[in-house]
Amino acid sequence: MAVPFLDLKQQYRQIAGEVRRELDEVMENTTFVLGPKVGAFEERFAALCGTKHCIGLSSGTAAVHAMIWASDLPAGSGVILPPNTFTATAEGVVLAGHVPVFVDVNRNSWNLCPCRTETFLKENDRPGGPADPKTGAVIRALLPVDLYGQPADLSAFEAIAERWGLLLFEDACQAHAASLEGRPAGSFGTAAAFSFYPGKNLGAYGEGGAVTTSSDDLAAKIRALRDHGSAQKYFYSMIGHNYRMEAFQGAVLGVKLSHLERWTGQRREAARRYADLLSGLPVELPVESPGAKHVYHLYAVHTEKRDDLAAFLKGRGIGTGFHYPYPLHLQKAYAHLGYRMGDFPVSEYNSSHNITLPMFPEITLEQQAEVASGIREFFGEHAGVSSV
Ligand SMILES: Cc1ncc(COP(=O)(O)O)c(C=O)c1O
Repeated sequence: MAVPFLDLKQQYRQIAGEVRRELDEVMENTTFVLGPKVGAFEERFAALCGTKHCIGLSSGTAAVHAMIWASDLPAGSGVILPPNTFTATAEGVVLAGHVPVFVDVNRNSWNLCPCRTETFLKENDRPGGPADPKTGAVIRALLPVDLYGQPADLSAFEAIAERWGLLLFEDACQAHAASLEGRPAGSFGTAAAFSFYPGKNLGAYGEGGAVTTSSDDLAAKIRALRDHGSAQKYFYSMIGHNYRMEAFQGAVLGVKLSHLERWTGQRREAARRYADLLSGLPVELPVESPGAKHVYHLYAVHTEKRDDLAAFLKGRGIGTGFHYPYPLHLQKAYAHLGYRMGDFPVSEYNSSHNITLPMFPEITLEQQAEVASGIREFFGEHAGVSSV
């Protein structure tokens, strides 16, 4: 039995009627950019995240960029983030005119490590504030990522931000409806960025993103920035961008938001089933951090020989991914920052050992059993592979 990595067609079949009605309404009223569908979605998504505001944008990349850009940090500020994330996290920092400063992640959660962050700040403290020893950039913000759908240790980062006078931004692009100690992802710190890329837990039918924040000033500024720096038609108070959300995406997201809680429950149930099916095999399973509600955007396991395992599973029609196979500090785009192999051993381990298995709300027990039997067969054929 073939098992796709992701199956968006099944989800569409559940909601096709609702989606078509909503898209028809957009076509009837012909407001194709922003408009009432985006406004209604923004209100409901802010409520889910427990923030005063949600600003709908054209992508998650735009969201990371806009929240940092709108925060008016002095040019060239250092922003601490993990190396094992999608490039857009660091791109947002660079596009806003700042410097990505990498700190390694925690061995269990694979998220930015608060202890290493605190140690980095202490070791590099200077009279003008802690500075990146490689670039000299003064550290002014933290940008943890809720990787795979598991919230980073955000309460610890709130405390660090407070102690060191830093802004805290959250890259929640993979963590719709996740929470930590009962607080929703998206509600920590100054602002958070979400992506609604189609494969995300809450995915549009095209590109989409949002910033959530409880700051009135920041929200007003991001609303202006997404629309060419204009809060009033024909008047441009600053240089902005075209980061507006399309009405079709707001309409689709509004429909899907009503199903998100159920879909999240199904993902969590599927994760429990994988834990049973994969127990005893030489794969390291994801660990839900204490107090965290992991929403399993990606189900990542870690193992030796993961390239061979991926090829083996592919041969059986089972889709897998690597998230992410090369950490950002070793990517050409960030070579100017001066990092080397060996700088972040945990992130490097993650990059070379992670393999993401099929995960979507509708995945069946039979499909998961097929994945598990493929993995069991692989390790049977490769007996002697060291267990983790
Ligand atoms: C952690 C993270 N940050 C940022 C982004 C960028 O979002 P988008 O693809 O919507 O631009 C993504 C999307 O893949 C992501 O996973």
